[in-house]
Amino acid sequence: MRHFLPLKVLQLMVTVCVFCSAVVCAEMTGYARVTQDGRAAVATVQPRATEAAMAVLAEGGNAIDAAVAAALALGVVDGHNSGIGGGCFAVVHWADGTIEALDGRETAPMLASRDMYVVDGQLNRELSRTGALASGIPGSVAVYDYMLKKGGALKREAVYRPAIALAEQGFAIDQIYAERLARNRDVLARFSGTAEVLLDDNGQPWPAGHKLVQPELAKTYKQLAQQGAEYFYQGELAKRVELWMKANNGLIRQSDFARYQMLKRTPVRSQYRGYEVVGFGPPSSGGVHVAQILNILQSFDLTKLSELQRYHVTAEAMKLAFADRAFWLGDPAFADVPKNLISETYAASLSKTIALDGTNKAVTHGTPAKAEINLFDKHTTHIAVADKAGNWVAITTTVNTDFGSKVIIPGTGMVMNNQMDDFAAQPGVPNVYGLVGSEANGIAPGKRPLSSMSPTLLLKDGRPVMTLGAAGGPTIITQVVQALINTIDLQLPLAQALSAARIHHQWRPDALYLEKSASLELRGGLHKLGHNMKDLGPYGSTQAIAFTKEGFVAVSEPRLEQRNRR
Ligand code: GLY
Repeated sequence: MRHFLPLKVLQLMVTVCVFCSAVVCAEMTGYARVTQDGRAAVATVQPRATEAAMAVLAEGGNAIDAAVAAALALGVVDGHNSGIGGGCFAVVHWADGTIEALDGRETAPMLASRDMYVVDGQLNRELSRTGALASGIPGSVAVYDYMLKKGGALKREAVYRPAIALAEQGFAIDQIYAERLARNRDVLARFSGTAEVLLDDNGQPWPAGHKLVQPELAKTYKQLAQQGAEYFYQGELAKRVELWMKANNGLIRQSDFARYQMLKRTPVRSQYRGYEVVGFGPPSSGGVHVAQILNILQSFDLTKLSELQRYHVTAEAMKLAFADRAFWLGDPAFADVPKNLISETYAASLSKTIALDGTNKAVTHGTPAKAEINLFDKHTTHIAVADKAGNWVAITTTVNTDFGSKVIIPGTGMVMNNQMDDFAAQPGVPNVYGLVGSEANGIAPGKRPLSSMSPTLLLKDGRPVMTLGAAGGPTIITQVVQALINTIDLQLPLAQALSAARIHHQWRPDALYLEKSASLELRGGLHKLGHNMKDLGPYGSTQAIAFTKEGFVAVSEPRLEQRNRR
């Protein structure tokens, strides 16, 4: 790829990329920034979070410190997307060249059961999305604590400082945040701890421009800064959650917090046209299906296909991968997830089912070789790492949908996730993203729900050249794939690679979503090939940093600016 360089000087350089759900940005506007000395780069969906990371870098912090500072700040200014009440996956390339995949995914409480959302034989989706039963045990704090202990250059207090200041001093909410509050007002009003923070005394949503101050969240952050994850998992915070849960028919107990473990996963590694793609394995489906789609596409020379053919085969590859996702994927501690889903041989067999002149209507899941014995790891791996420079971070973190379960636990400022909705609560019945799943992703105590989060590193000759990831449920996978083929195959500069019209196909529903910015010719051509076309967009939120001959290039979703200019 012409604009990526081998990283001879990487030892002195660090880069960070933090991903979270929703809206977006570009380098000029403060969402994505490179330090003046070119030492580090940051891309997030929120200038205040990027600023928090830059402040920590200015104090002598490294990419690990900066990534965590950004994540903590996002929990304050973007709490509808992510925060300490949610979970995350992080792929970290430490300065010594090793890579770890850190699993901070939520777990189902030990009192959870397979049919907990089935009432009178009917799935009650409201229960898995809102209120006390919707949350899993949050995992982000465990990952952040681990990262700082392992690779941070600053004291924990210094990393927490910018986020604490934002929570204590407040920030003016923008139009988009105000719209979110208004949209969710009725549900937010049902929970007193939430209403106290996010609504006014009359129960009305704060308008744009209101300075949102979160003193309780600031207090929680201060305790975390002083005591670390122990405060969260063994201490006062867990106690408060249990108290609220018991009073509200919830299932989470202090003992669930005490039991919670961040897990180290074996990263999913695959090759794509001379690059190594490093992604996150189960319980994320992201790494597996990014690799699988790219493997399928490897049978086609995308540079020789017309634009129509390129979009068509990409859509067909997505469809095949998502059919496998629905059948095979789940928490590997509970479900047998075949490793050969990412084998090139398997992908080559799938690619033969793709015709250039029409869609495959009969797609169902396939069966990779040795599907019953060659499975994704059920154990953690540990790699020892030291040193500070040359860290590359990709974190995807979430509370799931807007403001998660809509519950802020009183006295904590913490928005609880609704990640339980990512389980297949009834096999075959779609979740909030329209995704169907099988028993592999059924609910069980202590189990982690399947995710689409796809924090990804791209390596050339063993060295990182790009870190990327996205937000947006299952479109995360397809956004990451398209960012990669646009940079690797089409050799587009990063900003253009992210700007190009996107498609998304997830097998069920059998629909090809195409951004409205695409030409009528492309839309008509795909329709003629048999795709069931649906308009979408603009959509997506990809953040990426590449290392080029000009140094770091940081880009946060170009569509953000368009949205903000509305
Ligand atoms: N909650 C969305 C995901 O993890 O895919």
